[in-house]
Amino acid sequence: VINFEDKLLVHKNSNPIIIGKNSDEFIISSDNNIIQELCDEFVVLDDDDFCLIDSELSFSYLNKVLKKTLKKNVNIKEIKTTTFMESEILEQKNLKNIFFDENLKNIYELVNKIKNCNKKIILSAAGTSFHACLFFHYKLLEYGILSQVILASEFENYLDIIDDDFLIIVFSQSGETGDLIRPLKILSQNCVEIVSVLNNRNSSIEYLSKSCVFLNCGEEISVASTKAFGFQIFIIEVISDLLKYNSLKKISKRINFISDNFEVEVDKIFKKVDEIIFNYDIDKVFFIGRNSLFPIALEGALKLKEVSYMHSEGFAGGELKHGSLALVDTKTLVFCLDNNSDILSNAIEIKTRGGIIIGLGTIQSTEFDDFIKTDDLIFMIIALQIIGLKYSLSLGLSPDKPRNLAKSVTVR
Ligand code: AGP
Repeated sequence: VINFEDKLLVHKNSNPIIIGKNSDEFIISSDNNIIQELCDEFVVLDDDDFCLIDSELSFSYLNKVLKKTLKKNVNIKEIKTTTFMESEILEQKNLKNIFFDENLKNIYELVNKIKNCNKKIILSAAGTSFHACLFFHYKLLEYGILSQVILASEFENYLDIIDDDFLIIVFSQSGETGDLIRPLKILSQNCVEIVSVLNNRNSSIEYLSKSCVFLNCGEEISVASTKAFGFQIFIIEVISDLLKYNSLKKISKRINFISDNFEVEVDKIFKKVDEIIFNYDIDKVFFIGRNSLFPIALEGALKLKEVSYMHSEGFAGGELKHGSLALVDTKTLVFCLDNNSDILSNAIEIKTRGGIIIGLGTIQSTEFDDFIKTDDLIFMIIALQIIGLKYSLSLGLSPDKPRNLAKSVTVR
């Protein structure tokens, strides 16, 4: 942005620029949420757009039309808590919001694309959103579709073999992750079809996508992604049910069950986690899961490490015996997701080597040293998020602004 006389010259290179306007001011920002909040109209600049703003608040050199800002139709109830992370965990009660603002139409469009496109499917994202992709991979398997899951930071290694025979589905809360934008720019120039699952609107990734599905979970402030993950997983389960049953009956029952029992269940989880984190003298924490709970275990580990700085790892339960079991000792706390016979046998391997096993799921097991009851996958995810939150607070840390991390990673 260059300031001269009473004008501002704005040029967009790689990072996002959105210009907002209200009755008496312009706001130039890379953060769409600020613009949507403070302005009545806005415009998103593309790479190499120039724009001159003068004191009469008029644009010039910009052949774009101003759009009306999207006033919040998704009324997220402001929940008063000590940290954004906690309030955002609690906002996962509002799962029905995924259907607002014509988003159900976007979801049906994606389902029909997956059903009828006969293309090879690639899923890509970073961090927490990558774990949602991996969960999607397992859910697509249940429908007989094999997809390829690629870390966003590794995506550029695959570009030479991707053509219009592929459908690219990306997940990004911010829509500004640089590791995704770089390959998507090349793919969109090569006319490869991109569908994105996003939370923020008017993001760079939205403008690179042929179509989008939105989380509608409201702005996520805490660096540690929580509600966005819960909404990503739930949207994937909506897609999965539509693929398998072509019906939302099961999902609607779950939305009502989660909403009707939310306060009671989450309160019980908070109390149980408080007991657990002060009960054991540990120096590392593992999360183990199998099948579609493997990505959930990875997310539990990422949440804990990023807000508490503790050594924490997620594993596919059956993988431990291939090496990582050597790490297990009496100071190893292991959260075991579900209690089917396979994951229980993995838990027993750990227990016989001195590890402490905390079960999560619907049914307790005598193999567990303790147990957090979670009668829905969303409550299991919330429990994992609360484990991270509570360890962080118990260590006097700030879970909203963890050291070394940014909310949106736009760099390589
Ligand atoms: C998650 O808690 C982290 N903040 C980080 O891993 C994040 O999920 C990742 O950077 C991807 O961000 P995005 O969803 O905005 O693309």
